[in-house]
Amino acid sequence: MKINILIMMLFAAITGSAQNNINITPMPAEVKPGKGNFVLNRNTIIVLEGSHLEKTASLFNAYLQSAYGYKLKTVKGFRGANAIRLNFERLDYPIAGAYILNVDKNGIYIAGDNEAGVFYGMQTLIQLMPIDKDLGIKKTDIDFSIPYVSINDHPRFAYRGMHLDVGRHFFPVDFIKKYIDYLAAYKYNTFHWHLTEDQGWRIEIKKYPLLTQVGSCRDQTLIGRYGSNKYDGIKYCGYYTQQQIKDIVKYAADRYITTIPEIEMPGHSTAALASYPFLGCTKGPYKVMDTWGVLDDVYCAGNDSTYTFIENVLDEVMQLFPSKYIHIGGDECPKERWKACPVCQLRIKNEKLKDEHALQSYFIQRIEKYLNGKGRKIIGWDEILEGGLAPNATVMSWRGEEGGIAAAKDNHDAIMTPGSHCYLDHSQTKNEDSVTIGGYLPLEKVYGYEPIPAVLNATEAKHVLGAQGNVWTEYMASPEKVEYMVFPRMMALSEVLWSPKEKKNWNDFEKRLPVIFSKLDDQKINYSKAYYDLQATVLPTAGFNGVQWKVESKLKDGFIGYPSAPGGSDALVYTTPFMVTETKSLFACYFLNHKPIGCVDQKFYFNKATGKKITLSVPPHKSYPGDGAFTLVNGVQNEKGLAKSSEFLGFLNDVEAVIDLGSSQRCSTVVVYALRQQGSWIWQPSTVSAFYSEDGISYRSLGLTDDYVTKNGINGSITISFNATNMRFVKVIIQSHGPIPDGSPGAGSPSWLFLDEIEVN
Ligand code: ACM
Ligand code: ZN
Repeated sequence: MKINILIMMLFAAITGSAQNNINITPMPAEVKPGKGNFVLNRNTIIVLEGSHLEKTASLFNAYLQSAYGYKLKTVKGFRGANAIRLNFERLDYPIAGAYILNVDKNGIYIAGDNEAGVFYGMQTLIQLMPIDKDLGIKKTDIDFSIPYVSINDHPRFAYRGMHLDVGRHFFPVDFIKKYIDYLAAYKYNTFHWHLTEDQGWRIEIKKYPLLTQVGSCRDQTLIGRYGSNKYDGIKYCGYYTQQQIKDIVKYAADRYITTIPEIEMPGHSTAALASYPFLGCTKGPYKVMDTWGVLDDVYCAGNDSTYTFIENVLDEVMQLFPSKYIHIGGDECPKERWKACPVCQLRIKNEKLKDEHALQSYFIQRIEKYLNGKGRKIIGWDEILEGGLAPNATVMSWRGEEGGIAAAKDNHDAIMTPGSHCYLDHSQTKNEDSVTIGGYLPLEKVYGYEPIPAVLNATEAKHVLGAQGNVWTEYMASPEKVEYMVFPRMMALSEVLWSPKEKKNWNDFEKRLPVIFSKLDDQKINYSKAYYDLQATVLPTAGFNGVQWKVESKLKDGFIGYPSAPGGSDALVYTTPFMVTETKSLFACYFLNHKPIGCVDQKFYFNKATGKKITLSVPPHKSYPGDGAFTLVNGVQNEKGLAKSSEFLGFLNDVEAVIDLGSSQRCSTVVVYALRQQGSWIWQPSTVSAFYSEDGISYRSLGLTDDYVTKNGINGSITISFNATNMRFVKVIIQSHGPIPDGSPGAGSPSWLFLDEIEVN
């Protein structure tokens, strides 16, 4: 044991020294390490060799002050090696923002092709500076080493964005600034600020004071996932004054970040309608929404007063935001109200429009024309393609890449934000314990994103300006949750956006992760450690005599162990899957430097069907395959009510399952566990019937029932009880609920049947 600890310490020393290596995110285009170190101390001087670089120098000083306890003197001319020189050089790359950074015996030299380039060079320099842990001492008033290096770097894409929805949840000015700092640190240049929503209007408009007096407050907020029908009863308010907005826009601009405001239209606008009911087709009354989703009440597209209102709002918005682009939303606008509204119908007739989709297009084009007339351009979500694209619009492709592809082929610019790779509100781990909107977008998938679709030719590809991470905040009520959802995925995306395509290397990024994480620790950022999660799988056994629990890690430098208590530091080393043959809980942890850094636990419920041979009449839907039929007898129940889709099989039809108990057994109940989450179109079975057989050929009925009982409001079960009977085979027929009834989300579409487990006792 002693020897083991010694080896561990030796290992820690080795990995510790690796932390002083050059570890920069996003990976620069070219890095040539040198031999030696520059020692930065309080006598080091910042030399401004170019003009307008004071801002960058003072931001660097602010960082030094907070991290190391001192500032450096800034001068215009200086000869000597104990200096950080900031300058401009012509660097000739297609996208502005290139820089070089040399650290050598002559000191530190940063030159950018513009001011932003110098700023990016300074951000890289900050990443070369040691963090607290490397120094092993308290950070204050110290000298420290920066490795000699020669870096030549430039951005791949012109648009490098991160979005933040402040409508669903409001975030204070301090956090918005922090968020902008995060963007700046990883060389993003665009902050897409989603300011208006059904659940809250967050920007002060002087001409329409009710937008904030009424529209910035909702009476309460949904608890849990969409569809829960539980509310907290707490009034929720928040908006930014025009003064605060100016301050934030400047704060971002000082960090070479453009803030693009999004003012949603014609949908996602009930907070505006609640403030000024004349804006809607039915004239209300409307309320600021307390739940999520897509709502039928939208701006009336028939009345001229709607357009006048929006133009007046945009006039004030343009005063506050100097950005070339204004984002006008355009997504998820149901046409129900327009179909029934005489004024909207008259507009369709008078403008000779084909239908309501053309009316949406008319709406967007009319606003585009207004903004173009003021020298601005619009960005809209990809629905703005429907019914005819506004002539100069840039398309933000979110429902996959198709919208971006169509835009680029049509000579329009596009920004890629496909849900599959860029929606940072999706879960990043299958073990997610907090409520998220769902989905599964692990770090490596974000990293692997390629913004230029392969189907575009070189000319079309030039229309892809870049990509953006979207942060919708239905399930992010605090800054900590936002940090948890964006880190480290926004760092992976920064490499997609900045680094040359040929420099992108997942294996290399993965190797840099421990240092990336320790830097995030040092900054006290609440990042997700999902990448450290152990991956646990439940497997059948060859003899159908139990199940196996297999645990794996993506990490290589430590070991998987099972401590005597969860989180404990003494552990037996895991080598082969656990055999499970009875109801019990298991847990395992990944140990790095003798400390558990990520653990996983699983409770197994045993019954006569667990681990037994099971066959299904139809395979599950390809979107929800689980681990095939075995998922229904793997002993794992969805207990947390979070509906991790991997634990369910999804069907759009009835299912028949046959379980072979292996030998004749005396049984008296059959239980089917199924999910109900109607907001996600998932309905309980309409009926369950069970049958038994000794030979697997002739079956007799055990009963039929529709009595669905919920445990925690979401998960539930249907039980068939009968007099104790001997049986070897059990057949269960589970009838899907069929089409979703009127008045429920997804009405008319087939409902999903989500099955978790079949128990026989
Ligand atoms: C969107 O996610 N509705 C743009
Ligand atoms: Zn109308």
